[in-house]
Amino acid sequence: MHSNSKQLWRDVQVFDGQALLDEAMTVRVDDGRVVGMWPSRAFTEADAQGAVEAGQGGVMTPGLVDCHTHLVYAGDRAGEFEQRLEGVSYAEIAKAGGGILSTVRATREASEEALLAASLPRLDALLADGVTTVEIKSGYGLTLSDELKMLRVARRLGELRPVRVTATLLGAHALPPEYAGRADDYVSLVCDEMIPAAAGEGLADAVDVFCEGIGFSPAQCERIYQAAQAHGLAIKAHAEQLSNLGGSALAARYGALSADHIEYLDEAGVRAMAEAGTVAVLLPGAFHVLRETQLPPIDLLRQYQVPMAVASDANPGTSPICMPSLMANLACTLFRLTPREALAGMTAHAARALGLPELGRIAVGAAADLCLWDIQHPAELAYAVQSGRLRQRIFNGVITHA
Ligand code: NIG
Ligand code: FE
Repeated sequence: MHSNSKQLWRDVQVFDGQALLDEAMTVRVDDGRVVGMWPSRAFTEADAQGAVEAGQGGVMTPGLVDCHTHLVYAGDRAGEFEQRLEGVSYAEIAKAGGGILSTVRATREASEEALLAASLPRLDALLADGVTTVEIKSGYGLTLSDELKMLRVARRLGELRPVRVTATLLGAHALPPEYAGRADDYVSLVCDEMIPAAAGEGLADAVDVFCEGIGFSPAQCERIYQAAQAHGLAIKAHAEQLSNLGGSALAARYGALSADHIEYLDEAGVRAMAEAGTVAVLLPGAFHVLRETQLPPIDLLRQYQVPMAVASDANPGTSPICMPSLMANLACTLFRLTPREALAGMTAHAARALGLPELGRIAVGAAADLCLWDIQHPAELAYAVQSGRLRQRIFNGVITHA
């Protein structure tokens, strides 16, 4: 690690979170922040205070923000992957007690240390691909103590590695078997015990729900949103992934930061999100792995100017993929995003989906979470699927991968 002193990157092409700036820039960082940025042609030797890194025309982007992951879990679901290839659907596996519930069994059995050890390599894979901020959800514990265990692991991951972690309570991910036939009682457990405890112990920044036929109804999600709001936690939703229950519009009515998946979102839902400023989080990894065919309404989202984020959804079932740059590729090939939209979706818009609009951009005053890539144009990040292009990862002004 280099020391956290003044540093200067000369001759970099800057993608600032929205667009590529039109000439090579020099970027100065001091004390964890970007403190200056100007065209390299105006560079004078007097500018060179502190360490000077030659950008050599590489592309500098904000550090990537992976705004939707389920990184903390035990076990794997390779067997279920094989079943799906033989034609069994995700929903059928879930109804038979597999899917999310099989990861719940493994995660309940795992100690906090074992969960941490299982999750660290996945986090390291994200960091090696340029991630500097990651959201991590609970949702494989489904008891008070197991949900808190997962959230503690999420927080500890952020202490062990140079990365910002936001933690989201996803108690309403699936109905645990001990509550079979008593979903409303389980929702009461989420509202009356999990949310107050997670908020009280500072273990969660947001609350998420799985609003779906195989998850929770809009009415149940609404109870959870009310409890989240009462405890000052932000709101997110897994919505319109397999069907349209109006979960995104509901979330938007509660001022949600984001509605995620949204393949089945309709125009009324898009309008509600636009009005509320709710970010659309696209998860092309889950779409790809589940071999979905219903596309999210990208043109409507563009038309209503709903910001689109792109995330890995890293999880053992629908997206066992810890490579955010692959998500940029999939967002383009599967959803027809432009490479610029995909990259904005993994930086500025993803930060907004976490309620952290000060991240995911390169500007004077912004946090110096940066990536320097060995590529000639930002579109290459989405175009080619290739590791090893990250020359430097800068976290809070410190070079942590080189
Ligand atoms: O984002 N849709 C629900 N939740 C996850 C999948 C979790 C799992 O299958 O383990 C998702 O796709
Ligand atoms: Fe998810």
